[in-house]
Amino acid sequence: MSGIDLTTTIGSVTLPNPVMTASGTAGHGTELGAYVDLSSLGAVVVKSLAAYPWDGNPALRTHGTHGGMINSVGLQGPGVEAWRREQLPRLVDAGARVVASIWGRSIDDYRRAAEQLAGCPSEVVAVEINLSCPNTEAGGELLAHDPEASAATVEAVAAAGLPRWAKLSPNTSRVAEVAAAVHAAGAEAVTLVNTLLGMAIDPVSGAYRLGSGERGGGVSGPSIHPVAVRIVHDVHRALPELPVIGVGGIATGEDAVEMLRAGATAVQVGTATFADPRTVAKVLAELTALAGRIGVARVADLTGAVRPPTPR
Ligand code: DHB
Repeated sequence: MSGIDLTTTIGSVTLPNPVMTASGTAGHGTELGAYVDLSSLGAVVVKSLAAYPWDGNPALRTHGTHGGMINSVGLQGPGVEAWRREQLPRLVDAGARVVASIWGRSIDDYRRAAEQLAGCPSEVVAVEINLSCPNTEAGGELLAHDPEASAATVEAVAAAGLPRWAKLSPNTSRVAEVAAAVHAAGAEAVTLVNTLLGMAIDPVSGAYRLGSGERGGGVSGPSIHPVAVRIVHDVHRALPELPVIGVGGIATGEDAVEMLRAGATAVQVGTATFADPRTVAKVLAELTALAGRIGVARVADLTGAVRPPTPR
């Protein structure tokens, strides 16, 4: 035991610690279970599910970049109903707390996915509403760039009967405005941030690197970490009562503590998992050790604990 209280409260949800997987990077079920004790994590956030099975985008779907990667998976998934039948029982057996991420091509799609989540076992602690996938047909026109549409989507997801977290886009200067709108519509927390819109082109052949072609993809990994830290910071400052889950390029305990200090109450680890599937457990261990060195009694005391720069 570390002696530090790692308990994390996100709206009505209490987790044993603040470290989760990030949606899209840990599969739909127990894929990481061979490397990480899933019951030891704050929660497992599964890849976004629709109200129907969805094939996703053509290959290539991923490409390595400086300091991270770009992807256009296109939200491949089995749909909520098959997931409940085939994947969720394994997560429950593994002792995981589960966050179901959902997406749709219309507000009605989100409502249907939410309805399909109703009556899930109590191990499903929340629904994360992916308002910000860059790889839908609408392309750059993300739901999460529109406060009213985002709020209407969050309202529709009340049908799940679960605490709602809204995952927002970093590709707008209006994040705080959108966060306020989804909070007013019933979201208990916001997850900040989804991927940055990007593109990669082969310089020799001139071909788009990803199968999505001119639609590009989403950039993730360490290169976006400072962007995520700033957005978490600014939204926390603007809306101190709204819990923020920080995600973006977290690969170490130091990255996680930085995100907590920016204003997050919990963190998610994503792209680093592709390099080493044990990373999320490593981040939890390092965060715990670092909180001990800093000397806080409760990890929750780190949220928003930032001060002016040291004079030089
Ligand atoms: C996908 C979804 C996302 O939300 C994202 O940020 C990147 C990729 C996808 O499945 O294509």
